[in-house]
Amino acid sequence: MAIWPAQWLGLVLLVSVWGSSAPASLLRRLGEHIQRFQESSSLGLGLSPGTVAIPKQGWLEQPLDPFNASDRRSFLQRYWANDQHWTSQDGPVFLHLGGEGSLGPGSVMRGHPAALAPAWGALVIGLEHRFYGLSVPARGLDMAQLRFLSSRHALADVVSARLALARLFNVSFSSSWICFGGSYAGSLAAWARLKYPHLIFASVASSAPVQAVLDFSEYNQVVSRSLMSVAIGGSAECREAASAAFAEVERRLRAGRATQAALRADLVACGSLNRAEDQAEMLGALQALVGGAVQYDGQTGAPLSVRQLCGLLLGGGSNCSRSTPYRGLRRAVQVVIHSLGQKCLSFSRAETVSQLRVTEPQESGVGDRQWLYQTCTEFGFYVTCEGPRCPFSQLPALPSHLELCEQVFGLSASSIAQAVAQTNSYYGGQTLGATQVLFVNGDIDPWHVLSVTQVLGPSKSALLIPGASHCLDMAPERPADSPSLRQGRQNIFQQLQTWLRLAKDSQVRGGI
Ligand SMILES: *[C@@H]1O[C@H](CO)[C@@H](O)[C@H](O)[C@H]1NC(C)=O
Ligand SMILES: *[C@@H]1O[C@H](CO)[C@@H](O)[C@H](O)[C@H]1NC(C)=O
Ligand SMILES: *[C@@H]1O[C@H](CO)[C@@H](O)[C@H](O)[C@H]1NC(C)=O
Repeated sequence: MAIWPAQWLGLVLLVSVWGSSAPASLLRRLGEHIQRFQESSSLGLGLSPGTVAIPKQGWLEQPLDPFNASDRRSFLQRYWANDQHWTSQDGPVFLHLGGEGSLGPGSVMRGHPAALAPAWGALVIGLEHRFYGLSVPARGLDMAQLRFLSSRHALADVVSARLALARLFNVSFSSSWICFGGSYAGSLAAWARLKYPHLIFASVASSAPVQAVLDFSEYNQVVSRSLMSVAIGGSAECREAASAAFAEVERRLRAGRATQAALRADLVACGSLNRAEDQAEMLGALQALVGGAVQYDGQTGAPLSVRQLCGLLLGGGSNCSRSTPYRGLRRAVQVVIHSLGQKCLSFSRAETVSQLRVTEPQESGVGDRQWLYQTCTEFGFYVTCEGPRCPFSQLPALPSHLELCEQVFGLSASSIAQAVAQTNSYYGGQTLGATQVLFVNGDIDPWHVLSVTQVLGPSKSALLIPGASHCLDMAPERPADSPSLRQGRQNIFQQLQTWLRLAKDSQVRGGI
């Protein structure tokens, strides 16, 4: 099996964004990497030659505290608008919500919803989430400011942005506003329709984990299942090889100084692996590497697909007689480090904590402190590996994740559990009462288990796409797309068609 397809060469040329070390989450680094990669190839896509359609970027002044009218402080929220298909003021508006990272002009130019816009002459608007990207309030990210960061604040922004943008673009009263979003932003899209049905006509929620959960051990159960999925290049042998590779890493961690030093070199660690807390970080990063291959399987810019990872773990491409799952995992680490443009991987817990404590907004695109805050105060989502069905290391365990909330924000474990329960009672978890929300998921994506994958009643729809990874339905169409992904996109189109006809019919009846 070829391990270095030609497309990978492009990745090697990417600018190095993170000099030598990665903070806490390798999974977030992978997600950002893919987003940047896709964003850098986004502008100009799908445009006829000669047209120079650059989306309009703008800023909305939004109240910092939308729930306290006597608090006059405000911040600037960034948005992009693509009006190249918008031929009539009665056309629908597709509002693409940003999530836990910066948004870019690609949000209104490529993939869905932009690809769906021409069929209905829709105006496409991308709205960056407060506290991420450049939509960070002036006084930074200290605890007094972070009080104003939550999904509820973000939804209040959606409402005031929707009203302000309708005035700004002179959108007709009869236009239907439809929210789109992927991952956490997919949950926001669903919740926007749930809480503000008079302002949001419908929503398409891709890979939306609407159920908050403290201990997300199911994540690795899906990863384990997906590694066995033949359709995407997995196999039972691949899962066994992954399990064997983790067992070998743990054996080497316990096997004395010399073996541990060799392990450190093998995994290109920036520092020593003496401390137990750093060893747990390292095991967490290795799980994120395998989880990332599953979560982002088949996506443009992803360093490793499941097929490629399994190829490495099962010894393809190297001298088979000397190959072991451990060597395959080592090779996978090198591949990922290389495409992330890093010299080594930092597994230092102390470094992670000190980076997360920095209250000045970091470079745009990186929102680690903000997202950690939201997990500690709303969602949990801590990925663990528990029970006999998990093939990886049992470390890091839940207490280590919870301790990070304490170390960085001074938030206790019991307050986090309480916050997670509150989130589910406020929004309704997986049994939320929203109508006209289409939930779209991929069945190999570890997050689909926290989303809605079954139709819950009339005017509630759900689509589970076989073999699709996280938010893959939102990506631009490619020749290599599977038939099931094409069918899934077709189903999304048809659902929108049904809704927009419904809107038109009710306008005609109402005499608008
Ligand atoms: C509302 O804002 C005012 C003015 O900043 C402040 O004095 C007051 O304490 C705030 N109320 C709440 C409940 O936060
Ligand atoms: C807004 O749209 C209406 C028609 O829907 C039009 O009559 C009016 O002139 C427009 N106003 C601006 C400022 O474009
Ligand atoms: C594999 O490695 C062994 C021992 O290192 C060597 O003798 C053999 O020629 C190698 N085979 C291939 C196909 O490279």
